[in-house]
Amino acid sequence: MEKIVVTGCNGQLGRAINREFASDDRYELINTDVTADIKLDITDVRQVLSFVRENKPAAIINCAAYTAVDKQEKDADLSMKINAIGPRNLAIAASDIKAKLIHVSTDYVFPGISDHPLTEFDPVGPVSVYGKTKLAGEEFVKQFSSRFQIIRTAWLYGDGHNFAKTMLKLSETHDELTVVSDQRGTPTSAKELARCIHALLPTDNYGLFHGTCEGDTNWAAFAEEIFTLAKKDTVVKHVTTEEYAAANPQSAKRPGYSILDNYMLRLTDSYRFADWHDAIAEYFRDGLK
Ligand SMILES: NC(=O)c1ccc[n+]([C@@H]2O[C@H](COP(=O)([O-])OP(=O)(O)OC[C@H]3O[C@@H](n4cnc5c(N)ncnc54)[C@H](OP(=O)(O)O)[C@@H]3O)[C@@H](O)[C@H]2O)c1
Repeated sequence: MEKIVVTGCNGQLGRAINREFASDDRYELINTDVTADIKLDITDVRQVLSFVRENKPAAIINCAAYTAVDKQEKDADLSMKINAIGPRNLAIAASDIKAKLIHVSTDYVFPGISDHPLTEFDPVGPVSVYGKTKLAGEEFVKQFSSRFQIIRTAWLYGDGHNFAKTMLKLSETHDELTVVSDQRGTPTSAKELARCIHALLPTDNYGLFHGTCEGDTNWAAFAEEIFTLAKKDTVVKHVTTEEYAAANPQSAKRPGYSILDNYMLRLTDSYRFADWHDAIAEYFRDGLK
């Protein structure tokens, strides 16, 4: 059995990875997080190096991140530590023992002004602290490890905090919700992302990949799909980003257009994601996990 270190195992993706790999006896997962039984803080290079040298995994799957996009606008140093220094430390450690590193990044590395689905070859230009620090994390991974697979995903939901759960919670107390309708992207289930990682892991197909569900939508239409699946008649009031920002001045700037094209996955015939409608329907069938 190959040992795989999973960081951030308590997060949405960490949990999905555990479910996805549960029946694959080729791998033994070593689950770590800041508050798990096995504690590993990815921001601490000495801790990361000694843990990895001691356990000698064949691969590290980095599911750890600071994902609270608005909060980190005022906490750029912590964001840089977790989203950039963390993957740097994992890359240094993976390279030290010649392990593979699977790292997850985001559509927020793009400025959001495109008029076509973005490939891995399109220019980046983050507009938020989160986008900037995740981009720095990608660069560190490329700089310090050679056997890496970076997967940029978007609008992720799974077993944890996410937009779908927030909408369902708010609908318990509101008949109408205001949601932006001019930001376009693709909701992606952690389950689909975990399947993609499972497909890439045993291969030597390294590099940067876009990995989102197929199709695209906007946040308001996504909320409507969620209420349809939940059989709720909550009304979604569509607003522009400008209108939303005026009412919520604390919110971080987000890319208006962040539809990703899974170009490298397609060119390398690696994994085909489900359509986002099918993935969110599966999420409801799975009891929002
Ligand atoms: N969520 C999205 O919409 C989205 C979109 C695009 C890309 N992504 C990327 O997808 C990946 C998975 O995201 P997710 O939604 O599964 O994240 P998540 O649910 O927020 O989970 C992240 C996990 O990392 C842990 N963590 C935080 N700081 C850590 C540290 N210093 N050392 C070790 N673990 C630490 C967190 O613990 P605490 O909760 O205790 O802090 C949490 O358990 C991330 O790389 C994220 O940037 C997410």
